[in-house]
Amino acid sequence: MQIIHTVTELRAALNNQASIGFVPTMGNLHAGHIHLVELAKQHATIVVVSIFVNPLQFGANEDLASYPRTLEADCEKLKLAGTDIVFAPTVAEMYVDFDGKNLNQSMTITPPPIANELCGASRPGHFAGVATVVMKLFNMVQPNVAVFGKKDFQQLFIIKEMVKQFNLPIEIIAGETMREASDLAMSSRNGYLTDAQRASASQLNSALQGIVNQLKSGNKDFLSLESSAADHLNKAGWEVDYISIRSALTLQPAQTQDSHLVVLGAAKISNNQAGKTRLIDNIEVNV
Ligand code: PAJ
Repeated sequence: MQIIHTVTELRAALNNQASIGFVPTMGNLHAGHIHLVELAKQHATIVVVSIFVNPLQFGANEDLASYPRTLEADCEKLKLAGTDIVFAPTVAEMYVDFDGKNLNQSMTITPPPIANELCGASRPGHFAGVATVVMKLFNMVQPNVAVFGKKDFQQLFIIKEMVKQFNLPIEIIAGETMREASDLAMSSRNGYLTDAQRASASQLNSALQGIVNQLKSGNKDFLSLESSAADHLNKAGWEVDYISIRSALTLQPAQTQDSHLVVLGAAKISNNQAGKTRLIDNIEVNV
């Protein structure tokens, strides 16, 4: 396994490769990420994994500085999973205008309006930052296939839209969400949780699952399903950002005739000292 830090070396290593599979990540890898690497291996002869904590997708009050950076441990896991190349650029390598203070990324991708809803409503600019870095990574790696997790359902949707709208010759493959035994979705941010928080963190998934069960039994009162689940979590000490039932195909609010739905949620888990941790999850359902 090669570990590469510059675009020049990356291009040299990828020259003349038959088919390239790509998994972009921000590192601090867990079994969810490794699942995506395995999917990539099934679809390509060489697998590239990028590790880059992208400043452009973090808001001013978010966890950019404290985001876990564990390159050595990540490389061990990637080697075991059969990764061919790890691409871990510095911020200066990724953003050529970086002057030590400002990203000064004056040309960016503007995602579609859906990027301002759900996670985008409370994280303004987040998906523009994601789309921009993924476009740059796509141009650097030039993969045939790229794999993204359904854990970040809205991100996956926006990347698919970018590929379509910019005619990128890349097949996007979606990986299922890997979970802890408690059904808590695996996430690098779970490392912020105390033991007590971790024990109650699966309440978010349970709330979404409760809605899914109602939908399966024919309940189509989407708004009251959303608000009662949100009330329930808020009463349990969460600070709910959104609970939303959407079309899995368009990500627009669910309509009674929609049959492929996705129930999405984001909430901050209560915390005493260390600042609140925002968790997200979603469950697809056919009704
Ligand atoms: P990161 O949060 O590191 O996630 C990298 C990839 O792993 C994403 O496609 C994400 O959806 C997937 N993933 C995360 N948790 C997962 C789980 N429990 N099961 C399956 N897949 C999971 O998402 C990002 O990084 C960044 O926004 C990125 C796309 C790299 C752009 O900076």
